[in-house]
Amino acid sequence: MKTVLRSNDPCWCGSGRKYKRCHKLSDEPVRPGNVSPRRSVPTSIVHPDYAEGGVPGSGSTSAIQKPEVIERMRRAGRMAAEVLALAAAEVAPGVTTEHIDEVVHEACIERGVYPSTLGYKGYPKSCCTSVNEVICHGIPDDRALRDGDIINIDVTVFVDGVHGDTSATYPVGEIAPESQELIDATREATWLGIRAVQPERPIGDIGKSIAGFVEPMGYGVVRVFGGHGIGERFHTSLHIPHYYEPRADTLLKPNMVFTVEPMITMGSYHHRVWPDAWTAVTTDLKRTAQFEHTVVVTKTGAEVLTLPPESR
Ligand code: MF3
Ligand code: CO
Ligand code: CO
Repeated sequence: MKTVLRSNDPCWCGSGRKYKRCHKLSDEPVRPGNVSPRRSVPTSIVHPDYAEGGVPGSGSTSAIQKPEVIERMRRAGRMAAEVLALAAAEVAPGVTTEHIDEVVHEACIERGVYPSTLGYKGYPKSCCTSVNEVICHGIPDDRALRDGDIINIDVTVFVDGVHGDTSATYPVGEIAPESQELIDATREATWLGIRAVQPERPIGDIGKSIAGFVEPMGYGVVRVFGGHGIGERFHTSLHIPHYYEPRADTLLKPNMVFTVEPMITMGSYHHRVWPDAWTAVTTDLKRTAQFEHTVVVTKTGAEVLTLPPESR
């Protein structure tokens, strides 16, 4: 249980300074900052259909992909993981989320891939940066990261006509033990969800495994946002609940490709959206973490397409 510190108490980090002069700043609610103008992507890089008008067009909406598409998605997944790793290396106190977005954007262009979020349904940036109580879809802006924050960076790339989608949550400087525990539990829950993937088993198995692990620890599982089918389209109609939903009885089939991306909360799993129409925050402003991988169902389980460079 978190003990609530008062301003003049010594900080939890052991610095000997008063809490108000130390990590209290990172416990203040995240406020919207200034969003810089949209960056451009060279026309030599193939843009997805929604890049101009914002509206994703129709294409195959099935979650089962042809082997030829899966082969292309392996590359997209690898590229997304590579770009995420580069962005993660920038995380430090004082760095703005805008800077992280710039690193993602440039890394995409260097690789000849399009940052899938840019222009998607009007989304203005090349990745999502979700800090502390921001559940997902945080828009990079001029807010500088604070020592004690946690940040999820969500990178999706479009290359060779297909998308690869991955995210992870990182500590900024020194974080409180309960924030680290939340991150560790969320990472573990993501892998438990992925390991629950078995052909001919219901999709509900994934959330059963995730919720069965985190809920007894007192955490919440966000219900409104889930995993999604992915392929030539960023989001197909297939929805993957991360909580236990017995009605999610669609059977997993070999060559289905989708994301597992649980958002786990320290308190309420309910959300509110900022006036920017994107940023989703917990209603109680308690922290939340998320990890995401794009996976393909195999004959025996799941193949993860977005493994980070060091763990392939
Ligand atoms: N990458 C996010 C996901 O995991 C989607 C971001 S859509 C955006 O599905 F428009 F917010 F960028
Ligand atoms: Co996703
Ligand atoms: Co994502």
